[in-house]
Amino acid sequence: MNQKDLLKIAADFGSPVYVYDSQVIENQYKRLTGAFKKIKQLKIHYAVKALSNISILKLIKNQGAGLDTVSIQEVQLGLAAGFKPEDIIFTPNGVALEEIESVAKMGIQINIDSLTFLEAFGTRNKNIPVCIRINPHVMAGGNSNISVGHIDSKFGISIHQIPHILRIVKNTGMKINGIHMHTGSDILDIDVFLYASEILFETAKNFDNLEFIDFGSGFKVPYKEGDIETNIEEFGEKLTERFNTFCKNYGREITLSFEPGKFLVSEAGQFLVKVNSIKQTTSTVFAQVDSGFNHLIRPMLYGAQHEILNISNPEGNERFYTVVGYICETDTFANNRRISEIKEGDILSFKNAGAYCFSMASNYNSRYRPAEVLWMDGKAHLIRKRETFEDITRNQIEVNIPSKKVLAEAI
Ligand SMILES: Cc1ncc(COP(=O)(O)O)c(C=O)c1O
Repeated sequence: MNQKDLLKIAADFGSPVYVYDSQVIENQYKRLTGAFKKIKQLKIHYAVKALSNISILKLIKNQGAGLDTVSIQEVQLGLAAGFKPEDIIFTPNGVALEEIESVAKMGIQINIDSLTFLEAFGTRNKNIPVCIRINPHVMAGGNSNISVGHIDSKFGISIHQIPHILRIVKNTGMKINGIHMHTGSDILDIDVFLYASEILFETAKNFDNLEFIDFGSGFKVPYKEGDIETNIEEFGEKLTERFNTFCKNYGREITLSFEPGKFLVSEAGQFLVKVNSIKQTTSTVFAQVDSGFNHLIRPMLYGAQHEILNISNPEGNERFYTVVGYICETDTFANNRRISEIKEGDILSFKNAGAYCFSMASNYNSRYRPAEVLWMDGKAHLIRKRETFEDITRNQIEVNIPSKKVLAEAI
């Protein structure tokens, strides 16, 4: 997919629009499985939350992956996309026990991350095997909002509470078939992963009936020029060696699982917006576009830096622009970025817009959520229509509000 194709997509489907390249998703999947080719039983569960369009889920299913879900609605989406229950895992946090039980009864592998729920679930459903999410107390992740394995985090059961877990397991007679961790997103240093893995291996030795160990995800992808990504090949080699040694000592082969979101879909996505106006103030040149943090919140939420290209004028002289949206509060996509000269009406492309972009979009300011297009086999396929005014009002119920005049008459 080249810049001409992108301009045609913006012309045909309008802006703003998300575009995903199927080939990039397939390549990333092959890269990840290739890095772990010496693991006998490998399972990749794609983290649906990153990008949950059903066509994307189907594409990922074709690669041989399963799904990692965090809500019963994501489970339903997965089933609607054709995944079998046994290919889906459920890794929620803070949801009601009833939701966990409903999902477990659908035949889906559940992951429990609290002692009280472990005990309650085990007491009522001792024949349903459970995976336990451990908090290894490792500080990792590119931003405090996505560092989820440290001591103050709400996720997982502390490694210091293993004795409690073992008492609950013994008392209830429940079966533990998996151990899980996810320490955060955007981890750069593979030594952090390996350190946390050692903690997981130590924990796993306490359980005799394991079928898998799930190492979560958090692989870093490059967002801007000069960014370094997780060296997946080196990580694959090092973890494979450790995992195979673990299996030997454990006495049998078990499955190694990951649940990547960003690694599979981030680089596949581009977000195309149109420039509404160029506004020079005393200190800044603003490029104001036909979107805002309602459509792509990562820069405002995480300080994420998405590379921005002017695909209408890619060879133009570079100038400094602050790219902003149309939301009625601070809504900055990029500060003082060098971008080739922008004119009103130009189309800008935000790179790395596959993960946590559309899936976090909202109707704030009563704007429509954008269309989504999948680029596959050299053709653009619309996979989600742009919303319309009907979508904004669909679930609203108008009550009869007496006008002031009627009220006055009643007094
Ligand atoms: C439990 C769990 N697994 C997997 C992921 C996917 O992480 P990433 O998109 O960094 O690969 C997340 C992300 O928040 C998560 O919370």
